[in-house]
Amino acid sequence: MSKTFQNIPGTFDILPEAFTSDGTTVESSASWHYVEERIREVMAHYRFHEIRTPIFEPTELIARGVGELTDIVSKEMFAFERGDTHYVLRPELTAPAIRAYLQHHLAQKGGIQKLYYMGPCFRAEKPQKGRYRQFHQFGVEIIGAIDARADAETVAVLIQIYKSFGLKDLVLKINSLGDEKCRPAYKTALQEYFEPLASKLSETSRKRLKTNPLRILDTKIEDEQELIQGAPRLVDFIDDASREHYEDVKGHLTALEIPFVEDPFLVRGLDYYTRTAYELDSPHLGAQSTLAGGGRYDLLAQELGSSEAIPAVGFAAGIERLFLALDGEGIALPDAEQTDVYIIALGDGAEKWAFKTANEWRVAGLRVAFDLQGRSMKAQMRDANRHGASKVVIVGDDELTSGKAIVRQMETGDQETAPFDGLLALIR
Ligand code: HAM
Repeated sequence: MSKTFQNIPGTFDILPEAFTSDGTTVESSASWHYVEERIREVMAHYRFHEIRTPIFEPTELIARGVGELTDIVSKEMFAFERGDTHYVLRPELTAPAIRAYLQHHLAQKGGIQKLYYMGPCFRAEKPQKGRYRQFHQFGVEIIGAIDARADAETVAVLIQIYKSFGLKDLVLKINSLGDEKCRPAYKTALQEYFEPLASKLSETSRKRLKTNPLRILDTKIEDEQELIQGAPRLVDFIDDASREHYEDVKGHLTALEIPFVEDPFLVRGLDYYTRTAYELDSPHLGAQSTLAGGGRYDLLAQELGSSEAIPAVGFAAGIERLFLALDGEGIALPDAEQTDVYIIALGDGAEKWAFKTANEWRVAGLRVAFDLQGRSMKAQMRDANRHGASKVVIVGDDELTSGKAIVRQMETGDQETAPFDGLLALIR
């Protein structure tokens, strides 16, 4: 037998029907469409406009944007090169969005840009439930706005997307990371706190202690999480302007009746954040409890070559984790796209009629299916059920002779006979 192939672990195929493999359920393409359409609808209500950027980007953009010392850049990049140029499959979309904003001079279009995106991202992480190597993000970026209402607006659209699916068990955690001026003092305070505890830290955290002590706060190791509880808190180091901004963000969230908890040790896994940082958690995700994360990143544009500071704020969310949360809260999604009518044809003449008529009805805007294998009445009826057809039209030799077809309502089982030229009107 010749060799067959499998998808790469941590990636998955999306098929017309949902399936489960190795304990992971992959929803049907119909469920994906439903979820994506709803996200787009809410984005439109909040007046975010879609941006689509390439799947691969220059390595340097991601390294500079996300931060050399982050896990994403130091361990998880899918990188390749051609000639002298180094590329990566995009691990996220914020740096690409800012690249596009600068490249296309979107600032000159006047006003603030409210962008959204949806698409695959790639991180070479150890695959597990809710953590994949190719996963799908949707997210927003408000670029050019310093106002705390922009921060709150990104949270508002995020929460509304989840609520629109009927999700209830959502926990929003927020923090302020201050800016580059207060960060050094906080870094020193963290180093002073953790140095005497170094023997209790993991090797990774010991390394981070020297290079990037804020990352220690991001640990998933339980013992370390306990140590963190006694660590100095960033909010005690932030400057007055950042503090005022933080108070404003919280005030705007309260005005929108969005509940939140303050988490003084929330730092996020990417290096570009300043001031606001937030995460949305669901208790239904297990170890990967984060549905979405975001915050403000007022210095990123300059890091990526802009001559002036461009304040910006946004979030990104994982679609696979949204599915897990929906499943956890018992919210069912439509998992098949409905067929309006299924034509059962018996005999050569009827098959020819069905083939032509199906096309006419499709052109007229109906979702029409029929059998391509010349099977029995019973087999075709089973197929009609599998398609979830709401109506079935049955045509055999007798019907061809009389010019009338049988129309069956699948839900009630009621049947009637109608002339061919009146069928379309009846089916609609
Ligand atoms: P992030 O926290 O790295 O942030 O990712 C955002 C979301 O993407 C996560 O909360 C999670 O739902 C999903 N996600 C991340 N990695 C994986 C994975 N391996 N498998 C499945 N889902 C995953 C960002 O990417 C920032 N760009 C967010 C942002 C936008 N900040 C400002 N603007």
